[in-house]
Amino acid sequence: MSPLHVTRALPEDATDAALRADVRRGLTVRPKWLPPKWFYDARGSELFERITALPEYYPTRAEREILADRAGEIAAASGARTLVELGSGSSEKTRYLIDALPALAVYVPVDVSESALTQAGRALMTKRPGLDVHALIADFTAPLALPKTPGPRLVAFLGGTIGNLLPAERAAFLASVRGLLAPGDGLLLGTDLVKDERVLVRAYDDAAGVTAAFNKNVLTVVNRELDADFDPAAFDHVALWDVEREWIEMRLRSRTAQTVKVPALNLAVDFAAGEELRTEVSAKFRKDGVSAELAAAGLELTHWWTDTEGRFALSLSLAR
Ligand code: SAH
Ligand code: AVI
Repeated sequence: MSPLHVTRALPEDATDAALRADVRRGLTVRPKWLPPKWFYDARGSELFERITALPEYYPTRAEREILADRAGEIAAASGARTLVELGSGSSEKTRYLIDALPALAVYVPVDVSESALTQAGRALMTKRPGLDVHALIADFTAPLALPKTPGPRLVAFLGGTIGNLLPAERAAFLASVRGLLAPGDGLLLGTDLVKDERVLVRAYDDAAGVTAAFNKNVLTVVNRELDADFDPAAFDHVALWDVEREWIEMRLRSRTAQTVKVPALNLAVDFAAGEELRTEVSAKFRKDGVSAELAAAGLELTHWWTDTEGRFALSLSLAR
């Protein structure tokens, strides 16, 4: 069996410095906000996996349906020998691609969550013992140094995670992905689609409260890493649809007027009663918009597949 290589592109102290900078900046501006990448410690990754099984959360099932139906076509169009996956999480749906790519030599899952990467890597090694797995602990919004591996290369960015980036961040991200590709290499991109507001809001405000726990987990991360004294029970989970920007916003609403201390930053943060902290946007897309954003980054959309209910799309684009 090939060994599992895990490379840390993010030194622990750089992660700590980034969290400090984000918390200081995000909690001292109005409206307050925190970037969504801080959800994903081991508990956050586990909560996300529970979200993917919720009856209200359709994106994972819809994308899995497309992958199950189209993996052969994707494999034939890309001919990839190296598969790089950004924000790979459990890599659960990726198995359809891996199984469909007979010439695949190397799989490079990239994630900020070390726990998700090691669990996924171990599970894959049992299922595909001949495959080289080079797991990379890295932030996909920063420049990525990938291992030298055989081409053609296919970069997969699944789950609709691109929607968690703001528009300007998306443009910078797609340009940097283009920089990882040689002409003819591909990007396989999962995008959740604009649909009925009620369906969307339910997906981010489930009856069992798992998404609320996921949302509040960011407070627990800040408590543990920066010694803060957030009381997660003193905040309500909020999910709303922004019809202009066509994105879901998750927020945490302070139930009362309160002051939260963040001793590691020497910071005391006042919340008014009802004040909201934005924790995530999850943009929803239309085909024309996706195609235009890809084109602006030098990527040509060649395939567009949706699930039978038209809720979610997978697109393949090739580097020009
Ligand atoms: N692709 C999987 C997981 C989606 S959840 C799926 O479709 O089910 C989003 C994943 O992206 C999580 O595993 C999280 O840890 C990772 N992630 C979020 N922000 C990231 C960042 N800036 N850099 C690297 N990984 C990130
Ligand atoms: C990872 N990402 C695509 C998820 C989403 O749907 O935006 C994260 C999530 N947030 C709440 N539920 C799931």
